[in-house]
Amino acid sequence: MSKTALITGASKGIGKELAFLFAENGHNLVLVSRSGETLKEIKLELEETCSVVVNILVTDLCDSAAAEAVFDEVKAKKIDVDYLVNNAGFGDYGTFVDADWICYDRMIALNINVLTHMTHLFVKDWRGRKAGKILNVSSTAAFQPGPMMAVYFATKSFVLHLSEALGEELKKEHITVTTLCPGPTKTHFGEVSKMDASQLVKNVPIADAKEVAALGYRAMMKGKATVIHGGMNKLAPFAIRFLPRKWVTFLAAKIMQQ
Ligand SMILES: NC(=O)c1ccc[n+]([C@@H]2O[C@H](COP(=O)([O-])OP(=O)(O)OC[C@H]3O[C@@H](n4cnc5c(N)ncnc54)[C@H](OP(=O)(O)O)[C@@H]3O)[C@@H](O)[C@H]2O)c1
Repeated sequence: MSKTALITGASKGIGKELAFLFAENGHNLVLVSRSGETLKEIKLELEETCSVVVNILVTDLCDSAAAEAVFDEVKAKKIDVDYLVNNAGFGDYGTFVDADWICYDRMIALNINVLTHMTHLFVKDWRGRKAGKILNVSSTAAFQPGPMMAVYFATKSFVLHLSEALGEELKKEHITVTTLCPGPTKTHFGEVSKMDASQLVKNVPIADAKEVAALGYRAMMKGKATVIHGGMNKLAPFAIRFLPRKWVTFLAAKIMQQ
């Protein structure tokens, strides 16, 4: 019997690649983002090529009522969600003091609030089912502080810690929580977050979104806890365990400078 995946931020980048992967594996979809026309095109393509049912929900997930509205709409349509993919997110490159508060407010709303709220709503709904899989998209930013992107890095640490803790708590419910930690990946993220200006993006290989999505998909299906994309990206979180924290922040600042 085919299952259903709900993916936030499915119009572009990693989320769109995940949508194609779920569909190619015969799963129905609920795709969420602000871009109605793009979602419609993806729906038509996937329904035609993969013979799956695709529902789209056009919404700004930064709205405080968004998670509840998405959940209610899914319930009203009698869609049973088996896989929840909290992927939508963005960053903002620049100094904390110069940034616009509205941007940070929206970032925290999207990267933290809606992800946590959606997870809470679906986990409560799944209680007793002894099934359910969650994929939360974090980042290699989760493993250390990130001067010049301080708020973004902190939001991704939140996602990693929340997901690992919930994965442990939810074992008895047979619900798995997987965290995907991509490094720099070719999507719209670099442009949206203005991160293309940083040394990090100029000096490291940029991963392919399809490969990153495939890693996340496989890890979720296997119920793995945390996966990091790319050999070099795995090295840093391991190495920094042995360094004093202030060195780690100093080195991160060097890498994040323009
Ligand atoms: N690319 C990287 O280098 C990289 C590295 C590490 C982690 N990540 C993480 O990977 C995830 C996916 O990012 P990406 O790289 O694929 O970026 P992307 O190409 O910019 O895609 C972001 C997705 O999020 C959606 N989105 C953004 N704001 C939204 C809002 N307010 N309401 C609803 N949907 C919204 C966008 O859809 P609409 O614009 O249509 O709403 C889009 O589908 C993010 O959580 C990001 O932090 C990315």
